[in-house]
Amino acid sequence: MKILTITIIALLTSCSSGDKEKSSESNIALGENVFNQNCVSCHGSKGRGLAENWKVKDENGNFPAPPLNGTAHTWHHSPSQLLYTINKGGVDMGGQMPGFEGRLNEEEKQALIDYIYSLWPSEIQSKYDERFK
Ligand code: HEC
Repeated sequence: MKILTITIIALLTSCSSGDKEKSSESNIALGENVFNQNCVSCHGSKGRGLAENWKVKDENGNFPAPPLNGTAHTWHHSPSQLLYTINKGGVDMGGQMPGFEGRLNEEEKQALIDYIYSLWPSEIQSKYDERFK
């Protein structure tokens, strides 16, 4: 009986988490798509960044696009701050990033944030969840 109960609980929980994973997976897939069309040219494949050192200004005196994969400080920003950066770009901060406010819809922007989150190592995701979720 005990085993049966455990099996049922396991089945129930795997079902519901399966559904959740499915919807977040498709969101992440959308985010990856949007990323590869709009962001990859500066932030690199899987958000790894293109510059050797994102903390060093380039020859034009601009900071290069930072990696978004958890090795820089993207994960210090709340989801609404990330959304703000996606909308407005870096011009406010004297930066180079263009804003995407009218170029992406809300679903695409949210998917981007989910995709960026999915690039982080799990210990960073847990810290992020503690702080912002
Ligand atoms: C033309 C190059 C360029 C493109 C395209 C670009 N970015 Fe950026 N991004 C930058 C730069 C450069 C910065 C650093 C701030 C600045 O200089 O504006 C930055 C900063 C950021 C930050 C803040 C990172 C942090 O650690 O604080 C996020 C988040 C971000 N970009 C996401 C995106 C997303 C998502 C896209 C695609 C929709 C995108 N960027 C497209 C160049 C770009």
